[in-house]
Amino acid sequence: MENVLVFDDPEQLAHAAAAKFVECAKDAEDRFCVSLAGGNTPRRVYELLATEPFCSQIHWAKVHLFFGDERAVPPDHPDSNYAMVAEALISKVAIHAANVHRIPAELGANVSARAYEEHLKKFFAGQSWPRFDLVLLGMGEDGHTASLFPGSDALAEASRWVVATRNVQTGADRITLTLPVFNEAKHVMFLVVGEKKAQRLKETLRPTPEADGLPVQAIKPTHGTLEWLVDAAAASLLTQS
Ligand code: 6PG
Repeated sequence: MENVLVFDDPEQLAHAAAAKFVECAKDAEDRFCVSLAGGNTPRRVYELLATEPFCSQIHWAKVHLFFGDERAVPPDHPDSNYAMVAEALISKVAIHAANVHRIPAELGANVSARAYEEHLKKFFAGQSWPRFDLVLLGMGEDGHTASLFPGSDALAEASRWVVATRNVQTGADRITLTLPVFNEAKHVMFLVVGEKKAQRLKETLRPTPEADGLPVQAIKPTHGTLEWLVDAAAASLLTQS
């Protein structure tokens, strides 16, 4: 059973997630490598990390920010995960530009996936898989995470670190880290809020034969921790038998 922490509301969850980020950063040796989640839920966490009491507890010179996935749009596009993180966090803290490892999504999904994979292989030189100190992830209502969507070929990827994929619901091209990369992490933290996620969260944490095989269920760190930070609304069906 994963470690599931239930918070009264999204704001309390965001404060707890920011505190865990600080804790992981303090534990890291020379470099603190984080894979960030996109979407809406983590935005408040990123905003908090740029403010006190969190900001000054983080030695930003050793922090390296990566992206778990990206939409195949330019970095100033409203759908860009980078744009969201830049506005909420990067533009407000003393992090070196070279420590922000943006997915060059403006190159198109296939080219940027290859380029990002090469970048990661240089950064994590000598490692068979990149080991992030912390991976933040969200969960879609369909049980996707990062840009690993139900039924996607990307779920079976066993050698590539980064692949091009597509949000089958919207047809939007995406770039995503792969399951072996996420499962290599030291700490994985899911952030899930809202009543709309309640049914899927229940299926994820209480799997049944017919509701198995969701992308989120494939996140199983091989030698790391997995935590679910959820609010009461998302957890509302967990307490039922
Ligand atoms: C993205 C994210 C995606 C997100 C979920 C949940 O690029 O959108 O990587 O996996 O985490 O869709 O999104 P919300 O936090 O907006 O509900």
